[in-house]
Amino acid sequence: MQIIETIDWDYHFDQLAENDFTIVDNFLPQEVYTNIKSLFIDAIEEEQLTKAGIGTLSKYQIRENIRGDEIMWLNRNDCNEEIATFFSIIETFIPTVNRSLYTAIKDYEFHLAHYPAGGFYKKHLDQFKERNNRILSVIVYMNDNWQEGDGGELKIYKSEDPDDFELVAPIGNRLAIFRSDSVWHEVLTANKSRKSLTGWLLKQPQGLGFLG
Ligand code: OGA
Ligand code: NI
Repeated sequence: MQIIETIDWDYHFDQLAENDFTIVDNFLPQEVYTNIKSLFIDAIEEEQLTKAGIGTLSKYQIRENIRGDEIMWLNRNDCNEEIATFFSIIETFIPTVNRSLYTAIKDYEFHLAHYPAGGFYKKHLDQFKERNNRILSVIVYMNDNWQEGDGGELKIYKSEDPDDFELVAPIGNRLAIFRSDSVWHEVLTANKSRKSLTGWLLKQPQGLGFLG
């Protein structure tokens, strides 16, 4: 499965190298996007998502004052065709990322994330330096007709100055990529249901006993 050729990846890898994040519109082939979105809507309706927590293992806890999304992890060994197609796109993408950014990504993990109206996720990093399995955060938004006023923007802090940020509207088939261990970010309160396919590109294969 191909990555869309009209995207100027050189530009986006330059952005990542310089600013630690980039935003790519129309990432997935339209059919793949539409198929995953309808599967996602079915999963929400069938209540297959569960409330997300924070931390790992013994420290794991659900704290609705920090994040209000519900998620469903995707298993590459047990998934339907649409998700398998998405994973094959990610597998094509990884060697390109490694060549362009001099990373050594070996694996990935993805979940569906749904913020019901009122949901948010306070300012955080996706990875702490001492547990550094996550290299890049990768988010594909799945919200058609997202309007100003719907909220739910991804707020990316560009420096330590809290006023130095960029707001990214979670519009359908938009991809956000950023460094997991250096880019502070948050999700502003969504005023209506907000969906994304969210994941991380990993330094070590999953299940190698890497905590976190
Ligand atoms: C996360 C996260 C941002 C977004 O899941 O860790 O920060 O825009 N998501 O969904
Ligand atoms: Ni995050």
